[in-house]
Amino acid sequence: MKNIAIFASGSGSNAENIANYFAHSEYAQVSLIVANNPQAFVLERAKRLNVEAITITKNEFMACDALIEELAKRDIDFIVLAGFLLLVPQKLIDAYPGRIVNIHPALLPKHGGKGMYGDRVHESVVAAGDTESGITIHLIDGDYDKGTTFFQATCPVLPTDTPHDVAEKVHALEYKHFPRVIEEIMHSLD
Ligand code: GAR
Repeated sequence: MKNIAIFASGSGSNAENIANYFAHSEYAQVSLIVANNPQAFVLERAKRLNVEAITITKNEFMACDALIEELAKRDIDFIVLAGFLLLVPQKLIDAYPGRIVNIHPALLPKHGGKGMYGDRVHESVVAAGDTESGITIHLIDGDYDKGTTFFQATCPVLPTDTPHDVAEKVHALEYKHFPRVIEEIMHSLD
């Protein structure tokens, strides 16, 4: 059985969806949720899901030796960033080469980079007058929202859509595709 760790900073609806997807899998399970904010709602979800959760400070994350030990203790094979807002340190990337995946709620390379997360991304899409948005699932290579793209899916953006409307469409794409694409990427590493 492969072990997945999910890193999240906020609500954690993707973390919950991914944990549920793998709950009956014989291939992989979500064994750990890592949050960098002790108030993050993802911690409530972890309790409900009966998934172990730990919180770390930004400094602990950046230093990352203790975190790598925690991951090793639990035989973590694969890391999923699901609404995680800190830049991943090189040491962690080196410990999990090709094994850290992120989801971005837009069609990269548009609307990405430092400070572009959650609602800000959808506001940027609407402000730009884009006619479509979507999701990008990509490997982490040390820079915000860069790295090999594995998968994109699109949704239309209507002239009347608010950032909230776009967020709903994008979340629906995330819930539909992210768990399956994670599984596909993990299989490609077997
Ligand atoms: C998701 O839409 C995810 O794509 C986005 O944050 C949201 C988290 O929602 N990630 C980024 O913006 C990263 N740049 P959730 O906490 O409910 O899963």
